[in-house]
Amino acid sequence: MPIERVGVVGCGLMGSGIAQVVAQAGCQVVVREVSAELIEKGLKSIEKNLQRLVEKGSLSEAQREQTRVRLRGTTSLDELRDSDLVIEAVIEQLPAKKELFATLDKICPQKTIFASNTSSISITDMATATQRPNRFLGLHFFNPVPVMKLVEVIRTISTDPNIFEEVVAFAERLGKTPVRTSDRTGFIVNRLLVPYMLDAIRALEEGVASIEDIDKSMKLGCGHPMGPLTLLDFVGLDTTCYIANVMFDEFKERRFAPPPLLKRMVLAGWHGRKAGRGFYDYTDPQNPRPMELT
Ligand code: 3HC
Repeated sequence: MPIERVGVVGCGLMGSGIAQVVAQAGCQVVVREVSAELIEKGLKSIEKNLQRLVEKGSLSEAQREQTRVRLRGTTSLDELRDSDLVIEAVIEQLPAKKELFATLDKICPQKTIFASNTSSISITDMATATQRPNRFLGLHFFNPVPVMKLVEVIRTISTDPNIFEEVVAFAERLGKTPVRTSDRTGFIVNRLLVPYMLDAIRALEEGVASIEDIDKSMKLGCGHPMGPLTLLDFVGLDTTCYIANVMFDEFKERRFAPPPLLKRMVLAGWHGRKAGRGFYDYTDPQNPRPMELT
C-alpha cells in the first residue's frame, strides 16, 4: 500500500517544513499543533515558503493551490487516525515523545507507520511506548527542510525490512535523497557534525581565532555554506546542547560534551538566530554582528 495520507505532529521549524514537502509531493497532510496560535504560525510560514517558490517560478499558482488543498491544520490528534504514516516533530524530550506515541498507538489503526524526526533520541526507546515496534522507524530531515536534500531513514532491530524500504521509497517520492542507517545516537550526520560544531566553540574558548575568522575559515577553506558558529546559531544552541548531552550520555567521550561556553549561552537564553542572539546578534537579520563573548 503506497503512503498517501500523512500525519505530521508539530508545526514548528521542522514540522512545518516536513508538512510542506509532503503536501507538495502529492500526499494528503494533516498537521497537528497544541494550540490554534501555533498552527496558524506554522501554516503562515509554509505559505511564505510557497509564495517564495511561486515568485521564483519553481512552483506554479495551480501547484500552490493544490498543495494548500492537500494540507490541513488541526489541534486534535484524533484527526490523524486515517494516516498511513505519522511523522513526529515535537520537542526533543523523550517523555513527551513517548506519551505522544502511546496516545497515537491507541488512535491509529495497526497499519499506520510511525516515524520520528528526532535528531538524537533512541528510536528503539520511543517504539517501546507502542504495540508496533515493527512499524516504527526514524525519518530525520534537515533544516531548512524544503531545501536540504538529505533524509536519514533509521531502522531499529525491530523494524520490519519491508516497512523500512517503503519509507525509503516515500523519502525518494518527496524529492529527497534517503540514506539508510541504524539506531545509533546521532545517526550519521550528527555523529560527525556535533563534535565538529563543539570543537569550533572550544577553539573560540581557547582563543584560537575570532568568531568571524573561525566561520570564514571553514567557509572559504573547506567550501561549507556556513561557518560552524553561524550554523550553531541556525540549528539553535539549545538544540545542539541537548543533542550533545544525549550523545555524551551514550558514548561518554569528551568530544560529545557541551563546552562550558555553550552551556552558559543556553542558560542565558542566547539560543541563536531564533532568539535574536547567539554567537551573532541578529538585531539586523541581514547583517548579523559577532557578539563579545570572551
Ligand atoms: N526555507 C525555505 N527555503 C529557504 C530557506 C528556508 N528557511 N532558506 C533559504 N532557502 C532557499 C532560498 O530561497 C534559495 O533558493 P533558490 O536557490 O531556489 O533561490 C536557497 O535556499 C539558497 O538560499 P540563499 O541564497 O538565501 O542563502 P544561502 O545560499 O546561504 O543558502 C542555506 C541558505 C540553504 C540555509 C545554506 O546556507 C546552507 O545550506 N546552510 C547549511 C544548512 C545546514 O547545514 N543544515 C543542516 C543543519 S543540521 C540539522 O538540521 C540536523 C538537526 O538534527 C540538528
